[in-house]
Amino acid sequence: MFAGPLDQSILRRAQEKHLVEIRVHDLRDWTHDRHRVVDDVPYGGGAGMVLKPEPFFEAVDALRQDESQVLLLTPQGERFNHAMACRLAEMRHLIFLCGRYEGFDERVRTLADREVSIGDYVVSGGELPALVLIDATVRLIPGVLGDEDSAGQDSFAGGLLDHPQYTRPPVYRELRVPEVLLSGDHKQIRRWRRKEALHRTLRRRPDLLDRAILSVEDQGLLSEIRTKEEGEMSNTGRGHEHR
Ligand code: ADE
Repeated sequence: MFAGPLDQSILRRAQEKHLVEIRVHDLRDWTHDRHRVVDDVPYGGGAGMVLKPEPFFEAVDALRQDESQVLLLTPQGERFNHAMACRLAEMRHLIFLCGRYEGFDERVRTLADREVSIGDYVVSGGELPALVLIDATVRLIPGVLGDEDSAGQDSFAGGLLDHPQYTRPPVYRELRVPEVLLSGDHKQIRRWRRKEALHRTLRRRPDLLDRAILSVEDQGLLSEIRTKEEGEMSNTGRGHEHR
């Protein structure tokens, strides 16, 4: 499950440049029986199998360093976001514990410094969530992204959603690239992008806007957006439509 994502594009280059080292371990390496069994039936009965505590404890004993943070992937954890990715990107050593099957023995939680969820849904194991955390975190390590695809421009980096992007052709199936982007006027382009980012965030994620740090210019752009929308609403007699 890890080989594909870790061997592609940005994660691959980050490892090749020695900006990060990622090692994948098999819990079965910390079993002591012939069949390398990592799960067992739940106490109290019920369907499904539960991951045993011993392989997790022995794995963490073997892998833990002085500066390790142990993260347990579970839908019951704290919700992962950009701020958490920034904190993780500054840490020296992370250990991701991935559950499988119906769950893990409750005592495994005592190993974790934090429990992390990637969202309010259940996937079949902690591996994909761990990959999500790894990808989002590694791209924030200085030097991983080149200037041209700097993470500073990403959605959420500045607390806002990203502005729209276009490439050639300038007109496709009657869909036009906004004129300002073809103008070569970099000051206007920068202003347009900021305004679009604010507009998108206002429309799609007003919760983000409440927490974003906005400059005086941003406040001005926002009031332009709001004034324009109010004008459109009174012209059409309709509420603003969801685009
Ligand atoms: N394991 C299963 N579902 C998960 C989720 N949503 N987040 C983290 N780990 C999980």
